[in-house]
Amino acid sequence: MKVPFLDLKIQYNSIREEILEELIQVMENTAFASGPFVKKFEEAFAAYCQCRHAIGVGSGTDALWTALLGLGVGPGDEVITVAHTFIATCEAISFTGAKPVFVDIEDRTCTMDPTLIEAVITPRTKAIIPVHLYGQMADMDPIMEIARKHNLFVIEDAAQAHGAEYKGRRAGSIGDAGCYSFYPGKNLGAYGEAGAVVTNNDELAARIRMFRDHGQRQKYYHSIIGWNSRMDGFQGAVLGVKLKHLPQWTEARRNNAALYNELLAGMPGIELPVEAAERIHVYHIYPIHTANRAAFMEALEKQDIHCGIHYPVPVHLQDAYHSLGYTEGSLPVTERRAAQEVSLPMFAELTPEQLQAVANTIKNYIKM
Ligand SMILES: Cc1ncc(COP(=O)(O)O)c(C=O)c1O
Repeated sequence: MKVPFLDLKIQYNSIREEILEELIQVMENTAFASGPFVKKFEEAFAAYCQCRHAIGVGSGTDALWTALLGLGVGPGDEVITVAHTFIATCEAISFTGAKPVFVDIEDRTCTMDPTLIEAVITPRTKAIIPVHLYGQMADMDPIMEIARKHNLFVIEDAAQAHGAEYKGRRAGSIGDAGCYSFYPGKNLGAYGEAGAVVTNNDELAARIRMFRDHGQRQKYYHSIIGWNSRMDGFQGAVLGVKLKHLPQWTEARRNNAALYNELLAGMPGIELPVEAAERIHVYHIYPIHTANRAAFMEALEKQDIHCGIHYPVPVHLQDAYHSLGYTEGSLPVTERRAAQEVSLPMFAELTPEQLQAVANTIKNYIKM
C-alpha cells in the first residue's frame, strides 16, 4: 500500500469550497498585500496562541529574524540555541550580526537540555532560542528561570508546534516572543510562504509591525529603517480558513501517533517518540530512532512507504557554520539523534489501514 510522507491534496480537497470562496473575496477586495484578511487571521491566531499579539510576516525565518531585531539583538551578541533544528533558527541569529552558541539536547525529547545552558552564558549572551522540535515544546520552566536569572530574552521557535502546550500554556506564550512558520507542510500551512511572531509585549509587537512594513508609522513616514516582510492577503485568507480546522487536525495527528505507539510498541531496535509529562505534543513529525537507518528506510521505500529525515546533518556540522569551530563530538546527543532519526508518514488524513501497513512493513523488516 502506498503511504506518502505527506499529502497536502487530501486536506485541500476537504476544504476546497471554503478556501476558494475566501480567495475570491481577497481578489474582490484587492486585498493582496497585508490588509483585512491578514488582520483577521492575526487576531484569531493571537487568541489561539494565548497571546495579545500576532504579527504576520513573510516566513518563519522572517519571524525569528524580526523578533531578534525587535528585542535589540545585534552584532557582538550571542544567542544560545540548539543544533538539532532546521538551519533557519541559526540563520536568523546570524542575520542580526549575532553569533549562535549551541547546547546539546535532552535525549528523551530531542529539545534543548536546560541543564547545559548556564555553562555557555557569557557577558555577551543576549537571548535563548529553544526549538519546539517535531511538535513538542522544550522544557520551558527551567529555561525561563535561567533567562530571568541572567536577564536574557527567550524566543520560542514554534515553527513546528502549532497548538502544542506546556503545562496548559500554548507554544509562543511563555517566552518574550514565539515564532511560527506556515510553510505549506506545517500543521497550519499556508498556500505559499508565511510566518508570524506572537507576543504579549506591546512594545515589541509595535516594533515588529513597523519593521515588517519598511519602518512606516504611516504611509511614507518612516521612523526606523525596516524591511518588506508583510504577509500577503491570500495567505492570510487561507490561514484564517484553516485555523478553524486546526484543533480537529491536531486531534487526528495525536490519534495517529497513539496508533503508531500501539502498533510499534516493543519492537526491538526501534525507539518511539516520547510525550513528556504535562505537555501536548502535536506531532508535526512522528520521529523514530533506529541504528541502521539506511537499510530501514530502503525496506520501507520498497513497499512504497515514504519517510523523511529531520535532520541528517545538525547545524553545527554544516559547512555554512564551519567558522563557529564546532567539530564532530561537540554535541554528542544531537549527533547520535541526527544519525538515527527517521520520520514516519504523518498527517491528519492518514488512515488506520495506512498506519497498519507502515507497522507491518517495519515488523517484517525487523524479522529479516
Ligand atoms: C524549527 C524551524 N524553524 C524555522 C523554520 C523556518 O520557517 P520558514 O520555512 O517558514 O522560513 C522552520 C521551517 O521549516 C522550522 O522547522
